[in-house]
Amino acid sequence: MNRITITVNGQSHTVQAAPDTPLLYVLRNELGLNGPQFGCGLEQCGACKVLLGAEARPACRLPVSEVGGRPITTLEGLSQGDELHPVQQAFLQAQAAQCGFCSNGMMIEAAALLQQNPHPTDDEIRAALDHNLCRCGAHLRILHAVKLASEDPKGLPLLPRVVEPEGDL
Ligand code: FES
Ligand code: FES
Repeated sequence: MNRITITVNGQSHTVQAAPDTPLLYVLRNELGLNGPQFGCGLEQCGACKVLLGAEARPACRLPVSEVGGRPITTLEGLSQGDELHPVQQAFLQAQAAQCGFCSNGMMIEAAALLQQNPHPTDDEIRAALDHNLCRCGAHLRILHAVKLASEDPKGLPLLPRVVEPEGDL
């Protein structure tokens, strides 16, 4: 076991973990962040995605020791207090979930896309979400939601945010 410090949703956390522990396990089991889901465990479905810096990455096989100083943003960290991120708001508005299992990865990927490309074409949205699987066939509503978010007149908040450390666990 090592003491490993990571920055999640703007707060610094030091955890005791074996260096090869997947980041997803630390987020869910140590920090209680259940936005990222365990799906395939093989970096194939996208359910576990988080933002690493501004990049959407699967967390299910990424060793926590390899995160380094890169800030992590989970689904919980997309909102600003009670104010939902435009992507979250759009998913609600478009009712873009059936079971909701894929929703975390879809929203994280969409947030990363819109950060880089605020007004993507339909093809660009499809390409960005290509590696996120939805078993329920909610794809059309998901694509619609991302389009809606891209049209939000308020624009998108910058990610990730960094605030003062909260202290050790
Ligand atoms: S659980 Fe990580 S990609 Fe499927
Ligand atoms: S809504 Fe069920 S997997 Fe996508």
